[in-house]
Amino acid sequence: MDRIRIRGGNTLNGTIPISGAKNAALPLMIASLLTDDTLTLENVPHLADVEQLIRILGNHGVDYTVSGKRLSSTPASGRTIHFTARTIIDTTAPYELVSKMRASFWVIGPLLARMHKAKVSLPGGCAIGTRPVDLFIDGLRALGATMDIEGGYIVAEAKGGLVGNRYVFPKVSVGATHVMMMAASLAKGETVIENAAREPEVVDLATCLNAMGAKITGAGTPTITIEGVTALSGARHRVLPDRIETGTYAMAVAMTGGDVTLEQTSADLLSSAFNVLREAGAEVTSVPNGVRIVRNGGGIHPVDVVTDPFPGFPTDLQAQFMALMTRASGVSHITETIFENRFMHVQELARLGAKIHLSGQMARIEGVPRLAGAQVMATDLRASVSLVIAGLVAEGETTVNRVYHLDRGFERLEEKLVACGAEVERISS
Ligand code: UD1
Repeated sequence: MDRIRIRGGNTLNGTIPISGAKNAALPLMIASLLTDDTLTLENVPHLADVEQLIRILGNHGVDYTVSGKRLSSTPASGRTIHFTARTIIDTTAPYELVSKMRASFWVIGPLLARMHKAKVSLPGGCAIGTRPVDLFIDGLRALGATMDIEGGYIVAEAKGGLVGNRYVFPKVSVGATHVMMMAASLAKGETVIENAAREPEVVDLATCLNAMGAKITGAGTPTITIEGVTALSGARHRVLPDRIETGTYAMAVAMTGGDVTLEQTSADLLSSAFNVLREAGAEVTSVPNGVRIVRNGGGIHPVDVVTDPFPGFPTDLQAQFMALMTRASGVSHITETIFENRFMHVQELARLGAKIHLSGQMARIEGVPRLAGAQVMATDLRASVSLVIAGLVAEGETTVNRVYHLDRGFERLEEKLVACGAEVERISS
């Protein structure tokens, strides 16, 4: 298994190109199941999760071609991929595939909408918590589907097709909002979703679905209205920039000090996190087609943070921010409200010398003047990159083991950091 070795102590200076968003690319790819026409996605990041979803969609009958470079060639950022689900050959998503990536469960929406039936394995738990699917079940039931659980699978059926309805989410869910928008696009009549997720990735999916002929309004607000249509067509859509990658590198610069411009992204995608970073002592300014992050001289100030659905502080940046706070000049608190078990990085940060005390869903971080390099273990996608951020300032050498987690969500991470002056190398084994 590959490892990443970091020699800490360098500041970061230069430019980093930001890739297309993983969390937008995945639902957009799944939307290709809704039409027998070709959906062309531009700016698709080269990530393990994207490759895995391509295999999963292939199982349902989705063909794909990549413009320019071949899929397996050297990582090319911003690929254009054409997806065509001319015929759905299988409406079952088996356990072996769904258990590898939770988002693949979302195929249940388009399969049910287009084929009026789907059999999709329950995703099971994962490293950051139990992550149930009750909201998907209730939401699709509201559209007239029968949803039965048999042998670890959800067997869904909507004889005669889905029918529009009003559905109020009892809790905000990004994935369930994506699925309801996709399903309702081909339902009969109007669907109104209340308490919908407002994440930019939800807006991106709605924009793409509308380009395919759907009639969706209100995406980005808590109320989304979908007027069902009988068929969707192909479209061409550019995946929006990855705001979590943007925020991760911004925190890395706040940690090491330096001056870095993050290109092909936008500060508007991440106002809450950038406000927090400013409080912590970084200068964050919008520049044409990007964001500039500077921290020269001044220290890192402690800031308290609570994770929340968009537009709040993203849970996907919680671990990275905690890494930053380990070097703050005082005590900070981070409260995780989205996932119940998302503090796996705490023990690993402690191996580098961080002082963190956990109490339920809150972490108390006492900033320390120095971290020291050590062997650490990546436990999930965002936790693993928090260890890289800490390693960038830890004295001596830090080795992050099990980096396949990083490859799921960060395109060319070592390359991007090295280009800005970091000493980072991948050790393949
Ligand atoms: C998406 C993101 C993930 C991010 C998360 C929250 C993708 C591929 N993943 O995950 O990176 O961390 O949003 O911003 O886009 N829940 C239920 N019942 C359900 C569904 C969800 O209780 O049926 C709960 C979850 O356990 C969690 C909360 O709702 O506590 C939010 O989860 P959700 O927004 O659904 O996360 P994902 O869409 O899986």
